[in-house]
Amino acid sequence: MTEFNNTHDFEEVTPANTMKFFATEPEQGVFDYSGAETFLSIVTPTKKYIRCHNLIWKSQLSSWVTSPAVPWTNATLSAVLYNHAYNLVSHFGDACYSWDVVNEAFADSPAGAYDNSSIWEQIIGPEYVPMAFQAATDAVRDGNLSVKLYYNDYGIESAGAKSTAAQTLVSQLKARDIQIDGVGFESHFIVGETPSQSAQQANMEAFIALGVDVVVTELDVRLSLPPTVATETQQVADFYNTVAACVGAKKGTGSHGCVGVVVWDFVDTYSWIPTTFVGQGYGTPWLQPGGANTTLVKKAVYDGILEALTGA
Ligand code: G3I
Repeated sequence: MTEFNNTHDFEEVTPANTMKFFATEPEQGVFDYSGAETFLSIVTPTKKYIRCHNLIWKSQLSSWVTSPAVPWTNATLSAVLYNHAYNLVSHFGDACYSWDVVNEAFADSPAGAYDNSSIWEQIIGPEYVPMAFQAATDAVRDGNLSVKLYYNDYGIESAGAKSTAAQTLVSQLKARDIQIDGVGFESHFIVGETPSQSAQQANMEAFIALGVDVVVTELDVRLSLPPTVATETQQVADFYNTVAACVGAKKGTGSHGCVGVVVWDFVDTYSWIPTTFVGQGYGTPWLQPGGANTTLVKKAVYDGILEALTGA
């Protein structure tokens, strides 16, 4: 086991919370980029790719959006959506390699329907998704930016109704000449229940065939605490399968169509998992046996990831 190497283990980074709506537009039309700028000042010197996350999602919205003084109409909320997406893409420009423009638009039940618990869906309807991509597209074109625009979701990592819905969305945006460059597969998995390598790769290639890149955007594999030899061994195989699927997913030309793997919270100490799924955790590649602010130690999954990346 060796220590975490900040400059060489990662080429790519995503802010978990600082670019979200609640943080960047705390009051209507008043943008606060201070948290995001602090994040960028730390990561920009060492990271090549910054996946900016996210513009439009149902969660972590400002209270003025979810509890408006005057009820929203389609027109007033559409203006809010457009203004937010356009401003953020314009402000950060090419500091972002990519933006997750819309996050998690589709429901688990009924799978693949537009998620009606989102205020965007409730007030605007499904058209809020192309609207957000149009705002981002306009900002890219107006600013002559090269930032890539992504749709990001969970439950689309293997074939199924949600994956089909996301593929339909990609085709619809392309047919309307609205920019979409990629799809993010969150990949929040449960040990022993992750889709097989071949199922993930085939699903990635179905998206790639539509003319988009794919990225594994939020990979973690949670297990019931404490880990056992059996669950940790399975976890290594689960991480391997996802990373190997990405490495193997190709375009028709033979070049890579899966262009990155991002883990969500890289050390268990700060992982979102234990507070959301009580009794579960151990989902990331590093731990801190001594607690917060102590030395990071690589777990067995680190070697599984490395093996998939290098083919070793
Ligand atoms: O900012 C408050 C702080 O003031 C307060 O003291 C503290 C007390 O709990 O809460 C803080 O807010 C927390 C926020 O993260 C910022 O740290 C929320 O409680 C907490 O629920 C929130 O969790 C985030 C979660 O999204 C919200 O759904 C996680 O950190 C973040 O990792 C997680 O990330 C999402 C992706 O954006 C989308 N895909 C799923 C993924 C995991 O849920």
